[in-house]
Amino acid sequence: TTVEWEAASYDMGGHDTYMHKEIHEQADAVDRVLRGRIDDRFSTVHLGGLNLDAREARQIRRVKILGCGTSYHAGMIGAQMIEELARIPADAEPASEFRYRNAVVDPDTLYIAVSQSGETYDVLAAVQELKRKGARVLGVVNVVGSAIAREADGGVYVHAGPEVCVVSTKCFTNTTVAFALLALHLGRTRDLSVRDGKRIIEGLRKLPEQINEILKQEEEIKELAEAYAEARSMLFIGRVRGYPVAREASLKLKEVSYIHAEAYPASELKHGPLALIEPALPTVAIVPDDDLLEKNRAALEEIKARSGKILAVAHQHQEKADQTVIVPKNEDELDPILMGIPLQLLAYHTAKALGRDIDKPRNLAKSVTVE
Ligand code: G6P
Repeated sequence: TTVEWEAASYDMGGHDTYMHKEIHEQADAVDRVLRGRIDDRFSTVHLGGLNLDAREARQIRRVKILGCGTSYHAGMIGAQMIEELARIPADAEPASEFRYRNAVVDPDTLYIAVSQSGETYDVLAAVQELKRKGARVLGVVNVVGSAIAREADGGVYVHAGPEVCVVSTKCFTNTTVAFALLALHLGRTRDLSVRDGKRIIEGLRKLPEQINEILKQEEEIKELAEAYAEARSMLFIGRVRGYPVAREASLKLKEVSYIHAEAYPASELKHGPLALIEPALPTVAIVPDDDLLEKNRAALEEIKARSGKILAVAHQHQEKADQTVIVPKNEDELDPILMGIPLQLLAYHTAKALGRDIDKPRNLAKSVTVE
């Protein structure tokens, strides 16, 4: 029953914080967002609440994703997945910026509002403005029946379960999986082949087990966190698929540990941040085994040559890095779902080493329902 579900979800179940508990719930949460949605016969997925028939789906010429904070970062990953799998031009923008810039609203664009709570005022205001101008808006939302879910024309529920910690972890992961489902669905109504559809479905099915593999490395990550807790500032870099992962990891660290962190596209290093590199500024690098691996390795070399310390999150050991946390490889398009998970643990253990109020960081609120 609902009551049992609620009671179980709010119990800390032996964890010291909700953040720790929610990080460890991710395999189950991902299982839930996938459940009942995969259609093996047509190598696609069914999303019951989308309210978008195949003809309408094919008429979409652009996708614009709006969200705040962690939801915005999940939307950046979603935009890349939609471009890659459905070949529809897509991008993400902070809802808070969008609503203040008198954006051109285009009838052939699909707008997607992303929100854990479904109550964030900036996102809701953007949705209402879009609807007023006749746009089609979908929601990618966690809380069922929330304001944004009600206001949207349809959408995908993220099914992460209740998230209590102010900073988002399991909901971020589930939102990226929900976007993978949406991208696969849009792709298969267009030109994504059955073969690629199958490949993505197989990748999705591997996620829960791979998440658990990552979480098993907690002890090692904790040791790293204790060493990095002394840093005054950290740089996070990633290229293309790795960039939103770097953005979210840097946000997580600053929110819970109060260490200054900045994310940069790895390709932009030489256009500024290289000037900051010195032993006291550690870099966290996202280094997936995809077609950009060599480019990313070159970036590590640039940092090493300037005596910068490097922690790599990668699919294989990185020689130039001081430490590498190995993440299991999935399909290239799905790698961003997993690569940030060790860095949630890094943020958590860094904050813990510094004695921070992990579930309620100073000055922050779980949902910002005011302007
Ligand atoms: C606040 C929270 C963030 C969250 C953001 C968006 O700033 O502190 O953790 O990512 O709001 O919240 P939403 O509920 O819309 O995803």
